[in-house]
Amino acid sequence: MRRKLAAGNWKMNGVSTQLAEVEALCAAHPSPRVDLLIAPPATLISSMVVSAANHALEVAGQDCHGEKNGAHTGDISGEMLKDAGASYVILGHSERREDHSESDDDVRSKARAALAADLKVVICIGESLEEREAANTLEIIAGQLAGSLPDILTGENTVIAYEPIWAIGTGKVPTLAQIGEVHDFIRSKLQTRFGEGVGRSIRLLYGGSVKPSNASEIFNVSNVDGALVGGASLKAEDFSGIIKALEDAI
Ligand code: 13P
Repeated sequence: MRRKLAAGNWKMNGVSTQLAEVEALCAAHPSPRVDLLIAPPATLISSMVVSAANHALEVAGQDCHGEKNGAHTGDISGEMLKDAGASYVILGHSERREDHSESDDDVRSKARAALAADLKVVICIGESLEEREAANTLEIIAGQLAGSLPDILTGENTVIAYEPIWAIGTGKVPTLAQIGEVHDFIRSKLQTRFGEGVGRSIRLLYGGSVKPSNASEIFNVSNVDGALVGGASLKAEDFSGIIKALEDAI
């Protein structure tokens, strides 16, 4: 059985006062029945680890470099994230792919580096609106999976997040049938490439305008093992509603 995962991505939001939300979240969920993860900006990783001390909530980076160290001003390595207390890193988010021209190859190198640094990875994929409207979604997803995933991964160290770009921060959500179609497709591709067992064990998150009000129906779609939540992860009350909906879907 895949353990469900509620992951929050704070993106470029939050200074230290924002940690009060994590403390409130931990207090509201003393023994969560799902895995909890938050990716704050890198500046807050080590203090968030302190805020979540004695709690199951884990902390993630939002990106890392593909190399171990070196002359890369402004970048951060997997080892640095690990040293700061992170246990996961999000890679290949569409905002990284767009704002920093990250390719599938870049994402795969970063994933290799992160796994070598003993981090778990959340690899993001998803189509644009034009690709969806041109009925190219599955082809795009297949290409991103083939290009972004390293050959060595397991259900323990890798999570995949399907985030249609047009659903991120827009309030637009695909139909449940559309989410189910893509998640089933990802599952079958993973099983073909990595074998039945490994392919079945990798968790698949949906991301894009997940809110307490739509979380339950999304969590009941087959092969949805949780969510990667942006805006609604910034407020403990909202994220808590999503966590409860995920616990109810067990
Ligand atoms: P929103 O939940 O704000 O749409 O963002 C989703 C996302 O990009 C999470 O990584």
